[in-house]
Amino acid sequence: MASLADQLQQLSSALEAALQRDKDEQSVRKHHADCVGAMRAAQKAALSGASDKKAIGQLTNEHIRRAEGIYEAALKRLADEAAARELERSVDVTLPGRARRLGHLHPITLARREIEAIFAQIGFTVAVGPQVETDFHNFEALAMPKDHPARDMQDTFYVDGSPDVVLRTHTSPVQIRTMLAQKPPVRVIVPGTVYRRDDDATHSPMFNQVEGLCVDEGVTFADLKGVLLHFARRFFGDKIGVRLRPSFFPFTEPSAEIDFTCVFCGGKGCRTCKQTGWIEIGGSGMVDPEVFRHVGYDSEKYTGFAFGWGIDRMAMLKYGIDNIPLFFEGDVRFARQFR
Ligand code: DAH
Repeated sequence: MASLADQLQQLSSALEAALQRDKDEQSVRKHHADCVGAMRAAQKAALSGASDKKAIGQLTNEHIRRAEGIYEAALKRLADEAAARELERSVDVTLPGRARRLGHLHPITLARREIEAIFAQIGFTVAVGPQVETDFHNFEALAMPKDHPARDMQDTFYVDGSPDVVLRTHTSPVQIRTMLAQKPPVRVIVPGTVYRRDDDATHSPMFNQVEGLCVDEGVTFADLKGVLLHFARRFFGDKIGVRLRPSFFPFTEPSAEIDFTCVFCGGKGCRTCKQTGWIEIGGSGMVDPEVFRHVGYDSEKYTGFAFGWGIDRMAMLKYGIDNIPLFFEGDVRFARQFR
């Protein structure tokens, strides 16, 4: 009996010491379970051949209850310490918040949307067409038959084995698609990606254009100029003027190059406009009766104007960007500057 009491006492003291050192609940539980196991084992050994079995049982149970108390106290100590640590933690509410990096639109998208919005206000709807186009829509119906020299300026990517399928070289084929699909009056603006065999600082093999087409009874060249002037001023500012220079496109007659007052010098003359005060924007003209013939419009009844230019170039002028490849390299340091 005396030696069992000593053993139990030692086990209790050892448990107390161990639990004081324990830093986590898991080891507290393990030390406690081991201690109770050892107490039961000591009891079992003492019981063999003993006469005072009841006293042995009572003594052991007493110590197990004490061990229980030590164990509960240790758990409480750990919980109190955790709560105290939580309370000590201080938060500096005066620190600035962490800024989130928000995404934003690409400058070409910004320019395209603004162009669309300006034309929407004067009654133009947005039309789109496929980037993989037939030779008929891209060339033939625009009065550029197979051997026409104007095709040289728009050398493009053909599809292997299908000589009549091309990556469209301009947005003009959507003029054809629109007119084949509906009767006049037509007022559409056509933004879209186009392709050509070109690649340098001012030409990308892939670029974006916007096309305009207006067909109705009594549409004149003056309407073309008025619409262009309206657009130029809304997009670049009130001081911008429009100049139409005689030119040639197979699908318009008469045809004109569109120049806007140089946005950099306001028309005084600078390096960008080569001292002319004007910047070439795109092409335009009155829809050629030959085009109307291809889409089944009566050219005795209807007239129309069309124009087209590069959206990328427009964005370059608006945002002062001098290198086309920058648009397509995907460098966020570039894109982040335009919001
Ligand atoms: N499609 C021509 C090009 O890409 C631009 C153009 C010229 C479009 C005259 C037109 C137009 O609608 O009337 O070079």
